[in-house]
Order: sequence, then C-alpha cells, then structure tokens
Amino acid sequence: MNTQELVAEIKQLKTERNAVILAHNYQVPEVQDIADYIGDSLGLSHQAAETEAEVIVFCGVHFMAETASIISPDKKVLIPDLDAGCSLADSITAEQLREWKADHPDAVVVTYINTTAAVKAECDYCCTSSNAVDIVESIPEENEILFLPDKFLGSYVEMVTGRELNIWDGACHVHEKIGELNLGEKQKEYPDAEVLIHPECGCSTSCMMKSAMYFDCEDGHIHSTSGMLNRASESKAEEFVVATETGILHRMKKENPGKKFYPANENAVCEYMKMITLEKLYEALKYDQFEVKVPDELAERAHLPIERMLSVA
Ligand code: 13P
Ligand code: SF4
Repeated sequence: MNTQELVAEIKQLKTERNAVILAHNYQVPEVQDIADYIGDSLGLSHQAAETEAEVIVFCGVHFMAETASIISPDKKVLIPDLDAGCSLADSITAEQLREWKADHPDAVVVTYINTTAAVKAECDYCCTSSNAVDIVESIPEENEILFLPDKFLGSYVEMVTGRELNIWDGACHVHEKIGELNLGEKQKEYPDAEVLIHPECGCSTSCMMKSAMYFDCEDGHIHSTSGMLNRASESKAEEFVVATETGILHRMKKENPGKKFYPANENAVCEYMKMITLEKLYEALKYDQFEVKVPDELAERAHLPIERMLSVA
C-alpha cells in the first residue's frame, strides 16, 4: 500500500473501531498528521482520561500507553510497537525504588511520568515536565522529597522552587547529549534566535546559570514539548534554537510557516519514538495489536499519584 492508501485505510478502520489516535510531539510527521490529538505527556494523559472512544491507539512510548491504560481501564489501549520503550523509564526499577524509600521512610516520593506502572505504584505524586514545579510546590515545605528518575529535571525543579530534593541519578540518553556546547555553537550561528529548552536536557540547569554567556535564557524558555510549541507561536522572535528531540520540529514548522527552527543537536533523535510508523499504526487497528493492559491491582496503586497530579494540574 502506498502512503495515500494507508492513510485512507487507517481513517476507515478508526471509524469502524470507534478508535482515537493519540500521538506524542516526537512522532514521525506522517503519524502526527493523521493523529486526532498531538501533545505532551500531560496533554495526552488528559485526552486518555476524557476520550469517549472505545479504543485508544497510542503513538508514543510504552510508559505513555501504560499511563493511558491506568487512567482509562475500561478502554482498550493499543501501542503499534511493543518495543517502543524509554531509556529514562528504564533507569529505575520498582525494587531499586523500594530500597531507596527504605532509607528515607518519611519522604514524599515524586515520580516523573517517564516511569513504569510498577514504579508509579510506589510513589505519592506523579508529574510531567509541564507541572513538576507546581507539584513540588504543592508539597508542604517540611517534607523531605525523593524525586525520580530524571536528574536534569530534578535540578531544574530545585532551582525554580528553591527546595532541596533527593534526586535519582537517571537521564534520557537523547536529552543528556544536548549540552551547553551545542547551545554555544548555535548561538554563534544564529545570534538573533530565541532558545527553547526541554528540562530533560543536559544543558537545562547550567544554561539557566550561564544565561548571560549564551542566550537570553531565563526560566521562561524551559518548557515541556507542548510548552515549547506554545512559546514558538506566541513569541515575536523569528528564529528559534530548539533543544529537544528533533521530531518536534515538524509541528513547529507547520504551525509557524513564517518562522525558522534549528535543532540544538541534529542527532537528538529518540529511536523508540521513531519505531511507530504509519504501517504499524494500520496493523494495530487492523489486527488489534498490541494491547497494553496494566493488571488491576497494580493499576489501582499507580492511579493514585497520577490522579493527584491531574487534580493539582
Ligand atoms: P513532554 O511531556 O514534555 O512531551 O516530554 C516527554 C518526553 O518523553 C520527553 O522526552
Ligand atoms: Fe524516553 Fe528520552 Fe525517548 Fe523521551 S526522548 S521517550 S525520555 S528515551
């Protein structure tokens, strides 16, 4: 089947199956273009909670599909490729977390959404890149906090809130390699550009500290993926250096045809996100594959931190 035929088949199957297609901002362009909703982790969670469709086809990575299954246990959640994982989610296991908690028995545990359901089930609060600061600020000052698994997001939250956190030593292999050097080089190349930074980046915290040296990069330029998209549309700047996974550039360019966008690091490509293709999306709908279902007992425990996040946010 050629692309046009695939697109037509997917649309037809979607109607027949009463399905909704949710896609993350890093998905390949053709998957983004056919999705009913494209967004960041928080937006996708809200969509999963609110949809009336019977089937959710999640074009993203496994922890995102798991989160949708936890939020909407009565829906069928499909992921077009079961191998679409996440290096950050893999950086902590439930067993490791239990051991960490045992050393800090009174601490409140805040997990970034990029974790497995088994890890979420051990936590008090969940957060995403767009609400991590709000979630930490909602916890009383006197509480000790364990923050996991991303060390760069953790230090960003520490810096903005002024709170001291115990931070797990995890990182995303894609964002970790977006560093200050990349920004320095791009600043020379595009001196008038505004910089947009995802807080998972290796540069996010140090960039704020060294804002005078590089870009005019105050706190306001560090965002979730959808926050970056909103800023790109609202800003008066005409050029942007974008420090995150390069898949976001498709939507940025499409929504802002008069503006120019340059990746901070051209090699920042998440191979897991790119595993989802139009062909696999078609097969997911046609053959009802691959279902992501979190067992009830685990889903119930993992639901609590997500529910707390959704109500704070
Ligand atoms: P966002 O929630 O900002 O889209 O981030 C998700 C993610 O996996 C970033 O790597
Ligand atoms: Fe995970 Fe990093 Fe890929 Fe995001 S970009 S899904 S954090 S591996």
